[in-house]
Amino acid sequence: MARRIKPLIAGNWKMNGLRASKGEVTKLARKLARGGKPACDVLICPPATIVGLLKETAKGSPVAIGGQDCHAAASGAHTGDVSAEMLKDLGARYVIVGHSERRADHGETDKLVRAKAETAHRAGLTAIVCVGETEAERDEGAALKVIRRQLKGSLPDGIAARTTVVAYEPVWAIGTGRTPTTEDVAKVHKEIRKQLVKRFGDEGEKVRILYGGSVKPSNAAELLAVENVNGALVGGASLKADDFYGIVAASA
Ligand code: PGA
Repeated sequence: MARRIKPLIAGNWKMNGLRASKGEVTKLARKLARGGKPACDVLICPPATIVGLLKETAKGSPVAIGGQDCHAAASGAHTGDVSAEMLKDLGARYVIVGHSERRADHGETDKLVRAKAETAHRAGLTAIVCVGETEAERDEGAALKVIRRQLKGSLPDGIAARTTVVAYEPVWAIGTGRTPTTEDVAKVHKEIRKQLVKRFGDEGEKVRILYGGSVKPSNAAELLAVENVNGALVGGASLKADDFYGIVAASA
C-alpha cells in the first residue's frame, strides 16, 4: 500500500509576469490564510526577474517560490543565464529543470537536465525534473519507453525524495486543454514509480510525481485522485490566484 505523500501544487508562470503580478501572490496568500492550512505544499515559479520580489510578497504565507530553469554550471561566463545559487540567494527553494519547452526551444538533452538537477542540489534547491512524451511518440506506442529513457538520463544518482520531484507532462497536453485519460495518467505514473523504486529503493517510494498539462480547477480533483499522482505542475491556470487556489483546494 502506497504511503501518503504530501502533494505539491506548483505553478509555472513561464515567460509571464511583471512586478505588478505580485498582486496575484498577495491574493493567493490571502485565500490560503482564509482557507486554513493547505493539505499540500504550494509553489509558484515566476520568471527569474521577479523571484526575489515574489519571495518578499509571499513572506509569512505557505507559498514557496522557485525558478523555472538554472544553468548547469555554478557560475561563470554564461551571458544571460541564471545559476541555481542565484535563485537560492533570492529565497527560491525549488527549480524546474528539463521542462519540455526548454528541451524543445533550447535543445536541452537528458544529460544537460541531469547536470542542472545536480547543480540545483548543490545549491540547496529541490529540483523538479520534467519528463513527457510528444504526441507522435504516444501515437507510436512509445510513451513509456521515452519516459523511461528520460528518467534514466535526467535524474542524478542517489537522489533524495526531499530534494527531487518528478513531473510527468505529456507535451501534447501542455497548454492545449487536452489531458490524457485518468487510466493513461495512472499507467504512466505507475511506471515512473516503478523506475524510481528500482533505482532509488525506499527514497523512490517517497519521491513526489506531479502531473502537468492542462490542469485546471475543473479537472484537478480527478487528476489528483489518481494513484501515484502526488501533485500538479500548472501552467496557464497558475497565473490567476482564483484558478490556482481552486487547484490547491482540490488537493485536499
Ligand atoms: P499548462 O502548462 O498547465 O498551461 O498546460 C503546464 C506546464 O507546462 O507546466
